[in-house]
Amino acid sequence: MPTLLALEVSPRGDRSISRALGKRFVGEWQAVNPEGTVIYRDLNAPRVPYMDNDWIGGVYAPDQVERTPEMQKALALSDELIAELRAADALLISTPMYNFTIPAVLKSWIDYVVRPGYTFRLAPGWPGMLENKKAKVIVVSRDSYGTDQLSEADDQVTPVLRKALGFIGIHDISVLRAGGSLAVNLGKVRIEDHLESYADEVRALAEN
Ligand SMILES: Cc1cc2nc3c(=O)[nH]c(=O)nc-3n(C[C@H](O)[C@H](O)[C@H](O)COP(=O)(O)O)c2cc1C
Repeated sequence: MPTLLALEVSPRGDRSISRALGKRFVGEWQAVNPEGTVIYRDLNAPRVPYMDNDWIGGVYAPDQVERTPEMQKALALSDELIAELRAADALLISTPMYNFTIPAVLKSWIDYVVRPGYTFRLAPGWPGMLENKKAKVIVVSRDSYGTDQLSEADDQVTPVLRKALGFIGIHDISVLRAGGSLAVNLGKVRIEDHLESYADEVRALAEN
């Protein structure tokens, strides 16, 4: 039975376009995988904290160094997030673009799951340890970014995610760029119509 890990990134709850497109993706994925399991991880509830000295010390201090309670707490959250990722056959990241790149809370999730001995090896070439996983990325933005190289240079969400996921062994990554949310925010386009305009692409993303 396949498992999907769906990250919920936007803090905007029911007003969020990325969450709404993510929900649609999950619906389409469940239609293709009726026996499948979905794990939801809302990165804002509780919010994944910034990686700090407790995480770094907890992960990298020599084995004989006793971990403080703060280090243990950071490692416990890291363990939990990595366990969800390991359990998943597919990962959905439906995220807003903030200032051309990923929201800080998504960076925090990356910082908690990119961990030596768990998702990559401390060995020459830094081999990624995750295998046979697909990632589906939906990038929601005010502006529209195409698929040509120039647009990729403006979109610093996709390259960051490709690099980080590739580093831990997830190379099968499909991206849907869902631009144009400005018109919704300005009240020029109804959110239902905006979401519907991506229906075919969301379905194709879930099916491939
Ligand atoms: C702080 C902030 C920064 C943003 N930066 C960009 C940006 O660099 N490029 C862009 O096209 N849209 C940008 N946007 C627009 C959001 O990506 C857009 O409103 C999106 O719908 C937000 O996702 P959500 O609806 O899931 O919350 C920004 C929005 C906010 C709040």
